[in-house]
Amino acid sequence: MLATRSIHNLALVGFMGTGKSSVGRLVADSLHFTFLDTDDVIIARAGKSIADIFAESGEPAFREFERRLVEELARRTKTVIATGGGLPANEANLASLKSHSLVVCLWASPEKIWERVRSQSHRPLLNETDPQAKIRSLLAVREPFYRQADVLVNTEMRSLREVAQQVTHQFHAAQAAHR
Ligand code: S3P
Repeated sequence: MLATRSIHNLALVGFMGTGKSSVGRLVADSLHFTFLDTDDVIIARAGKSIADIFAESGEPAFREFERRLVEELARRTKTVIATGGGLPANEANLASLKSHSLVVCLWASPEKIWERVRSQSHRPLLNETDPQAKIRSLLAVREPFYRQADVLVNTEMRSLREVAQQVTHQFHAAQAAHR
């Protein structure tokens, strides 16, 4: 399948707290690619935090920001794209990413995700009375999308640096297969 694909970019997908942004920066450094975080672009464009977008305009408005940004990403090259956790849970967004990127999913169990996000408060979807149940239910809905990634990397037993090395290796391998 990869042999017939155009791979100009690398897109990191996966649930909140799997390390997409940190790993993405390390991978961009080693590939000498530009790094782009979809959440950061949306925050800059909206002029407010994601929590404020959700609170003032609702989740559909945030998803519309994501949808429009995904369309623009198709024009980029040599970019490592860290996506928000919900962005690929949409067939059109996922198909668009796959048209120009190797899509790599960073994976972790609900327990590990909770361990990583419990001390953070900037994610509106987890501002719930039972955030652990919310993680499990969102992950169950999203898993079929995440599993459509080209590569799945388990992040549980690896440091961010090791995950980044693994992702960089997978990107080189995919490019070699594509040549
Ligand atoms: C979301 C994940 C967040 C951010 C927003 C919604 C999600 O990004 O896009 O809060 O739906 O899972 P991270 O995955 O970078 O935390």
